[in-house]
Amino acid sequence: MNYELTKSDLKKLKCDMLVLTRYEGQKPSGNFKKINDFLDGKLENKVESKKFDGGFGKTVSFDTFGKIPANSIMVFGLGKKKDFKPDRIFRAGAIISRSIEDDIINVALDFQLGNNKWYLSSLIEGLHTGDYKFNKYKTENNKEKEEKNFLIVVKNKKSRQFQYEIKYAGYLSAAVSNTRDMVNEPPVYLTPSKLAEIAGDIAEEGGLDIDILDYDRIQQNKMGGIMAVTSGSEQSPKFIHLTYTPGGKAKKEIAIVGKGITFDSGGLCIKPADGMRNMKMDMAGAATVLGVMQAISHLKPAVKIHGIVPTAENMTGGDAYKPDDIITAMNGKTIEVINTDAEGRLILADALSYCSGIKPDEIIDLATLTGACIVALGNTIAGIMGNNQEMIKRIEDMAKDVGEKIWQLPLDEDIKKELESDVADIKNAGSRAGGAIYAAHFLENFVPKDTQWSHLDIAGPAFFMKANNWHSQGGSGFGVRTLVRYLTDL
Ligand code: BES
Ligand code: MN
Ligand code: ZN
Repeated sequence: MNYELTKSDLKKLKCDMLVLTRYEGQKPSGNFKKINDFLDGKLENKVESKKFDGGFGKTVSFDTFGKIPANSIMVFGLGKKKDFKPDRIFRAGAIISRSIEDDIINVALDFQLGNNKWYLSSLIEGLHTGDYKFNKYKTENNKEKEEKNFLIVVKNKKSRQFQYEIKYAGYLSAAVSNTRDMVNEPPVYLTPSKLAEIAGDIAEEGGLDIDILDYDRIQQNKMGGIMAVTSGSEQSPKFIHLTYTPGGKAKKEIAIVGKGITFDSGGLCIKPADGMRNMKMDMAGAATVLGVMQAISHLKPAVKIHGIVPTAENMTGGDAYKPDDIITAMNGKTIEVINTDAEGRLILADALSYCSGIKPDEIIDLATLTGACIVALGNTIAGIMGNNQEMIKRIEDMAKDVGEKIWQLPLDEDIKKELESDVADIKNAGSRAGGAIYAAHFLENFVPKDTQWSHLDIAGPAFFMKANNWHSQGGSGFGVRTLVRYLTDL
C-alpha cells in the first residue's frame, strides 16, 4: 500500500475511485458540493434516492460516466461532525480500504482533514489496518496483489505536522502488520526460537541492543516459572531483552513486558479441543512488545525503553510440570501450582522479577492472560489494572485517542486473599469468579518495589475470531498503537 498527499482539483484528478465524505445531517459542503455542482446535482440526487444520511460507515457508490477523470465515486458517511475524532477516522480508513475491490488501484480520498493533530496519521493507520491480509499459506490466489495507491486530499501538503504523521503512520503500520503476522503464524512455525530470531531482526534493523537468554541462562537466573512451564515441551524457551536508548537524555525509563506462550495446550490440565483452538495467539502480548520496539527504534522518542519477552510453549510431555508442584520464581517467592493452564502468570512472574535489575520508572505488561477477562469485557475490550491510577489514566486516554478500547477492572482485597496457599507463598489460581482480577493480584507479587505498573489483559481484542467490515480474521496487533503513542508522547 502506498499513499501520498495531493491538493489537486478533484474535477481533474485521474483515479479509479474518488472517495468523498459527508457528515450526518449536514448540507453538502467542500469538495462534495463542488463535484455535485459540476455534475449538475446528480451526486446529491443519487445520495437522496439511496436514503443515504451520512451515518457512520454507510456508503453509496456510482459511476461517473466519463464526466470527470475519476472512474467512480464512493460517498462515505462520517457520522455526526462532533464525533469526528482520530478514533473514528482510523475506523473509517479501515472500513474503506477493506471494502475496496482488488482491481481498484488508484484511490483518491477527500476526508476534509483540516490541520488537526493526528487526523492524517489515524487515516493512514486505518487504511493499513483494513488492507492487511495474512495469505502466506494460501497456495492458490496467493499472487501478489497489485498494491493500492491512496491519494489523500489536503489543503497544505507541506505542513510539518503532516510530514511527521506520514512518517509516524508508516513505521507504526509496518510494526502493527509485523505483530499481526507473528500472531497469525501457526505454532509449528512460530516457536520461542523463531520469536527470538524475529526479535534479532528487529534489533538489527532498528539498532537496538539485544540479549537473548537461552535455557542455561534462564536456569542460572533461577527463573523457576519459565522452567516449569517449558518442562513439558520439546521447544527450548527464550528470554528476550531488547533495549532502546535515546541519543539525548532520557525523560523516563520504561519496561514493556509481553506474554510469549507460542502455544497453550493447557499443559497437564489440558484444555478441551474447542478451548485449544486459536491458542497460537497466546504470544500476542510478546508480539505487541516486539512491534512496539520495532516502531520505537525508528521514531526515537526521548525515553529509554526495555522490551521484555519471556517465551515458551505450554505442553504435556513426560517432564511436564504438575498441579501440586511448588516452584520458585526469580524473586524468590514460592508458588503452589493449582492449574497448569494458568501458565502465563508464571512466566510473567519471572519477567517482572527480572525488571528489578533494570529499575525502570514504569512497567507495562500485556498478556492474553485470562478467559475471565473476555467474560467480563467481551472480545473487543482489554482490561487494565495496576498500582498507579494516574498512569492508568494516561494509558486509557491514549487508547481512547487511537481507537483501542480498554476498561479498568478493580484490584480487590478480598480476591487478593484467595491467593493464599497452605504450602507455599501464593497459589497460581483461585476460584473462577473474578479470574482477571485474581491474575493481576498474582502478578503484583513480582513487580519490583516502588515501580509504577499497569497490566493489560488483552485476551479478547488481541485476536478476531471472525472477520468484520474493518478487520480480517486473526491477530489485531492490539496495544501497539496505544503504546507507541504513549511512549512517543510522554
Ligand atoms: N491463554 C489463556 C487465556 C485465554 C483464554 C486467552 C481464551 C485467550 C482466549 C490462559 O493461559 C489460561 O488458560 N487461563 C485460564 C486460567 C485459569 C486456569 C485460572 C483461564 O482463563 O481459564
Ligand atoms: Mn493457559
Ligand atoms: Zn495462556
